[in-house]
Amino acid sequence: MSRTVYVNGEYLPEEEAKVSIFDRGFLMADGVYEVTSVLDGKLVDFEGHAKRLERSLGELEMKAPCTTGELLEIHRELVAKNGIEEGMIYLQITRGSPGDRDFVFPDPETTAPTIVLFTQNKPGLADNPVAKQGISVISIEDIRWGRRDIKTVQLLYPSMGKMMAKKAGADDAWLVEDGKVTEGTSNNAYIVKGGKIITRALSNDILHGITRAAVLRFAREAQMEVEERSFSIEEAQGADEAFFTSASAFVMPVVKIDGAEVGTGKPGPVAARLREIYLDESRKTAI
Ligand code: PDD
Repeated sequence: MSRTVYVNGEYLPEEEAKVSIFDRGFLMADGVYEVTSVLDGKLVDFEGHAKRLERSLGELEMKAPCTTGELLEIHRELVAKNGIEEGMIYLQITRGSPGDRDFVFPDPETTAPTIVLFTQNKPGLADNPVAKQGISVISIEDIRWGRRDIKTVQLLYPSMGKMMAKKAGADDAWLVEDGKVTEGTSNNAYIVKGGKIITRALSNDILHGITRAAVLRFAREAQMEVEERSFSIEEAQGADEAFFTSASAFVMPVVKIDGAEVGTGKPGPVAARLREIYLDESRKTAI
């Protein structure tokens, strides 16, 4: 069934939505994005995603095509038009189409940004049976650029990482730099040792996950101990539990790292509890 998508001010059937071949998102990966999940037909952590988007745009000196209030309206309109109960909304903003290829940024006064949004319908997202089994990851070298805090559409290496995992018979990959895990290909990475939740501190080395911020807040509110520091693959393999977070997977247990079982080889109680709290609280605060 055809979706209704949003392109530069218009709601259109997906077949009719078009972007120029000169768009800098297409030619230069000169664009940023956000993925917001939908539960019970409502947006989870919308404000966090809108704030991070504003920051990504600012870091790249890109103009916002509309206000946060207008963005919220567009998100809600797409949820309604496509009848989404559970799923995601993908949003992308690029530096627009100057009508030719040039490395130099176009003048924002004459080249408007391109904005595209579409829905991804995922019934059963919250009840995903994979979360009950856990997933396996491999480790690969993190060779991405140095501004991973900006949510750009340069996703070739994360895609390659997922393909490397697939070829190795695993589900995903964790990225390693200078002997320490930075994050997953499209998620933030955690381990649990002696009841303590350990995850890398925020810097330009990782994306500042919106789910990460919420999960750590809920963990602290539930009196769980949190330590923000780096860890190695060896430490993760020897941990009691491992998991990752993202807007599309919420809290996902990791039960195998480079072929070695983590803890009992089954999802652990901390990850299961955090997933439950995150889903409960997100449903309550979704807008
Ligand atoms: N990915 N780290 C990376 C590299 C990511 O791409 C993502 C999100 C995260 C988690 O951030 P958040 O909790 O705000 O979703 C961490 C999205 C879901 C994606 O690319 O589909």
